[in-house]
Amino acid sequence: MTQDELKQMVATAAVQEILAILPPQSLIGMGTGSTVNYLIDALQTHASYFRGVVSSSDKTSQLLQERGFKVLDANQVTSLPLYIDGADEIDPHGNMIKGGGGALTREKIVASLADQFICICDATKLVNVLGVFPLPVEVIPMASAQIQRFLESIGGNVELRKTKTDLNQNFVTDNQAWILDVKGLVIDQPLALETQLNQLPGVICNGVFAVQSADTLLVTLNDKVQTIHFRKDKNN
Ligand code: 5RP
Repeated sequence: MTQDELKQMVATAAVQEILAILPPQSLIGMGTGSTVNYLIDALQTHASYFRGVVSSSDKTSQLLQERGFKVLDANQVTSLPLYIDGADEIDPHGNMIKGGGGALTREKIVASLADQFICICDATKLVNVLGVFPLPVEVIPMASAQIQRFLESIGGNVELRKTKTDLNQNFVTDNQAWILDVKGLVIDQPLALETQLNQLPGVICNGVFAVQSADTLLVTLNDKVQTIHFRKDKNN
């Protein structure tokens, strides 16, 4: 199976999981990325099952609206029973790197509103230690150089993200900010790194999801969807 077929398979399985967990007219938080796009497609026949969806990006909002879902602003809700999203990497404790699609800040905001986080991905995203995938750090543009110097001082190899179509154009997030992609970090203490990076002036958000780690993982492994529940007292 191709990676896209594996993403589609886990997205289809996630529909049954969501409908089993949530009663009709529930709210749900929706992530961003190709796996989530497959989920939105697979869930569209159930669009009216949901009172509303809080979205983590302009792209996801647009697709949700095209598929008949009611999109709510995060400010309109006080909590969500469930947030569902993909990941770029996930470790054996449910800590993740996210933000490959550039939506990390809004993803973390919506995830923080949710009682539980279900991560959906294919097995290529499973790692023992985070850090092979470059860690995205969303920054206020005027602080990018000083944040880059700090990231280099802790062993990172930093690149300012460019658009896919024009390598002379900086990638600009939904929040009108830039992304530094950091290679070369061995993230064996994700919670500590997430906390440290959050302290830097000008950092809007970093792509370590240890505070908002996954509670449950649905993953396509050996062409089957497997479910993993992470312990709440997990070791970060
Ligand atoms: C976007 C994300 C995505 O969840 C992550 O990049 C995985 O994407 P895909 O499902 O396309 O592999 O964090 O900011």
